[in-house]
Amino acid sequence: MSEPRQILVTSALPYANGSIHLGHMLEYIQTDMWVRFQKLRGNQCIYVCADDAHGSAIMLRAEKEGITPEQLIANVQAEHSADFADFLVDFDNFHSTHSEENRELSGMIYTRLREAGHISTRSVTQYFDPEKGMFLADRFIKGTCPKCAAEDQYGDNCEKCGATYAPTELKDPKSAISGATPVLRDSQHFFFKLPDFQAMLQQWTRSGTLQDAVANKLAEWLDAGLQEWDISRDAPYFGFEIPGEPGKYFYVWLDAPIGYMASFKNLCARRPDLNFDAFWNQGSSAELYHFIGKDIVNFHALFWPAMLEGAGLRKPTAVNVHGYLTVNGAKMSKSRGTFIKARTYLDHLQPEYLRYYYAAKLGRGVDDLDLNLEDFVQKVNSDLVGKVVNIASRCAGFIHKGNDGVMVAGDAAPELTEAFLAAAPSIAEAYEGRDFARAMREIMALADRANAWIAEKAPWSLAKQEGRQDEVQAICAQGINLFRQLVIFLKPVLPVLAADAEAFLNVAPLTWDDHRSRLENHSLNPFKALLSRIEPAKVQDMIAASKEDLLAAEEPKAPVGNGELHKDPLSAEVDFDTFAAVDLRVALIVKAEAVPGADKLLQLTLDIGDERRNVFSGIKSAYPDPAQLEGRLTMMVANLKPRKMRFGVSEGMVMAAGPGGEEIYLLSPDSGAKPGQRIK
Ligand code: MSP
Ligand code: ZN
Repeated sequence: MSEPRQILVTSALPYANGSIHLGHMLEYIQTDMWVRFQKLRGNQCIYVCADDAHGSAIMLRAEKEGITPEQLIANVQAEHSADFADFLVDFDNFHSTHSEENRELSGMIYTRLREAGHISTRSVTQYFDPEKGMFLADRFIKGTCPKCAAEDQYGDNCEKCGATYAPTELKDPKSAISGATPVLRDSQHFFFKLPDFQAMLQQWTRSGTLQDAVANKLAEWLDAGLQEWDISRDAPYFGFEIPGEPGKYFYVWLDAPIGYMASFKNLCARRPDLNFDAFWNQGSSAELYHFIGKDIVNFHALFWPAMLEGAGLRKPTAVNVHGYLTVNGAKMSKSRGTFIKARTYLDHLQPEYLRYYYAAKLGRGVDDLDLNLEDFVQKVNSDLVGKVVNIASRCAGFIHKGNDGVMVAGDAAPELTEAFLAAAPSIAEAYEGRDFARAMREIMALADRANAWIAEKAPWSLAKQEGRQDEVQAICAQGINLFRQLVIFLKPVLPVLAADAEAFLNVAPLTWDDHRSRLENHSLNPFKALLSRIEPAKVQDMIAASKEDLLAAEEPKAPVGNGELHKDPLSAEVDFDTFAAVDLRVALIVKAEAVPGADKLLQLTLDIGDERRNVFSGIKSAYPDPAQLEGRLTMMVANLKPRKMRFGVSEGMVMAAGPGGEEIYLLSPDSGAKPGQRIK
C-alpha cells in the first residue's frame, strides 16, 4: 500500500452578511463528499473553512441593524455553522477571517511582499460621501446612465442598457448610503504588483492545476496583460489596518484567502499531529486544494498564487472550479420560491436527498447544475429508496425470521461478488477526479444488478416452499453483502445512511478497503427503515416557505409614504408631509388565525370603525396561539397599498416592535382608545 497522503482542502469562505442558500450548498456538499472519500481511503485529509467577515457591506449592515460588526459576524457564524452541520458538512475547522491568526498572517504576507518590492503606492481619485465621511465603492453610488439616461443606476453599469462606465461618468450621482451628492477626493492607495508574476502565472495556470475551460479563460486575461491590484481601502472600513499605515485597511479580498491559512493555523493549535509550516512552506509535500465557484476564479488562480509565491510560500496543488446552481432551469428566483435557503430546505427535507442529487449531477466541469425539483423527487426515490435500501429491506426479514438474524457463510453469486470488486477501482477513480456523477452511475448499475439477481432468485417464493430454507438464507446473506458494499461506495455522499446501515449490519465504521471482505456467520441487528421516500408535498411546502421568507424579509422594510425610506435605508429623516401621509389607526383584532401552508404568517381581521381589513402579518413565531390576540386593540397602517400575496390580498400592516422570532411585540394603545381612531 502507498503512504497515506496529506491533503488540505478548502471551500470558499461564505460572506458573513447573508444566509447560506442551496447554491452555496452545491460547493460545500461537493467539497465535503471529496473530503469524506479521502478520509474513507485512509488519507490524512483536513477540511477548513471560515466566514468571510470583512468589508464595507458588513460594516453598513451592522450599522443598519444597530449592532457592532463583531456582533453581526458572530450571529451569522452561528447560523452558518448550524446550516453546514445539519447538511452533514464536516469541517475540521470553521473559523473567521476576523481572527488574530488572520491578522498576523495577513500582516506577515503583506510585509514579505513589500520587502520583496511587490507593493506600490499612488494616489487615486474617487467619489467620497461628505455626509457619511467615507469613500464610496461603485455599488454605493447611484445616478443617471450616461448612455441611455435611465435613472437610479449603479456606479459601474446600467441595468437598462447594459452599458459599463466609471462612476464619474454617471449623471447626477448620489450616495446610495446617505443620498448626498458625492465629491471627488484623492487618497493614497496600496497596490500589489501582479505583473511581476506574469511569467509564473502563465506557467502555473497551464500546469494541470486548473480545468481546461478555466485555464483558457485565464489565458485571455493573461494575454491582455495583468494590472496592478488595489489592495487598500480607507477608513471607515471593517477589516485589518495595514501595518504601519494608520487609516488604511486591507481590502477584504486581500485577507480572505489568507483566511484559509488562518483557519488551518487555528486548528493546528489544538491538533498536535498537524504542523502548520509543513503544509505551507515552499516545497511542502502536502497537497492543497481549493474548491470554488466560477465567479471567483481570478482571485484564486491569479492573485492568490501570486501572493503566495511573492511571500515565499507554496502554491495550491489545484483549484477546483464548479458552475452555478439553477433551480427548475432558471436562476434562483425569490418570487418563484426557488431562492431556497439552506435552513428552509432543512425544515422540510433530509440533507442526504440533496447530497445524493448533487452527487448524481456533478461532473468535473464548470457547467451549471440544475436542481429540477420533479427530477429530484423521482431520482432520489427511485435510486436510493427503490434500488439501494430496497436490497436490505427485501433480505433482512428472511434472515431474522428464518435464521435468528445470522447471515450464513458461502457465496451464492460469485459472478456478482466479482463484478462488485472489479467496479471499485473505477468508482474510486471517479471520486478522486470529482466525477461524482460517474461514481453514482456506476454504483447504481451495481444496485440494479443486485436487485435483478434477487428478483430472479425470488427468495419470497422459495420461503413458501418446503425444504428450501437453505437457499433462502444463502440468497439473502448474499443480498446483504452486496448492500454492504454499496453502502461503502456511497458513504462519502450519505454518511447518515451509512451510519444507520452500520448499526443494522452490526459492524464498526466501514472503510473503503472493507469492500473487499464479506460478512459470514454474522449476526445482524433488527432492520429499521433506512431512508423514506420524498413526499412531493414536502417540496411544495419548501417552495411556499421560500416565498414566505421573501415576504418576511420585505415586510419590516415596507416603505412608509412614498418609499424614500426603502431606497435609502440608512437615512433616518422623513419630512413631515411624508409622515403625515401615513394613515395610522387604532384597530381591533376581530379574528386571528394561522395560514395553512405558511410557517410565519397570521391572517388578521381588523376592525377600524367603518370597515374591516384583511391583513397578513409575519408575527406567528411570537404568537403561536393566535386566538389569544382576538379582542385586542393594536395599531395599523391603514393606507398601505394593498399587496397581493399567495394567500390573498393584504390590506394594511399592523405595528410591532422587537428583533423577530419570539421577540415580536404588537403595539397597543391605552385602554379607552376606540377602533378606527386616527393616531397623530
Ligand atoms: N467571500 C467570497 C469568497 C472568499 S474565498 C477566499 C464569496 N462568498 S460567497 O458567499 O458569495 O460565495 C461562496 C461560494 O459559494 C463561492 O465559491 C461561490 O461561487 C459559491 N456560490 C454562491 N452562489 C452560488 C450558486 N448559485 N451556485 C453555485 N455556487 C455558488 O464569494
Ligand atoms: Zn443605460
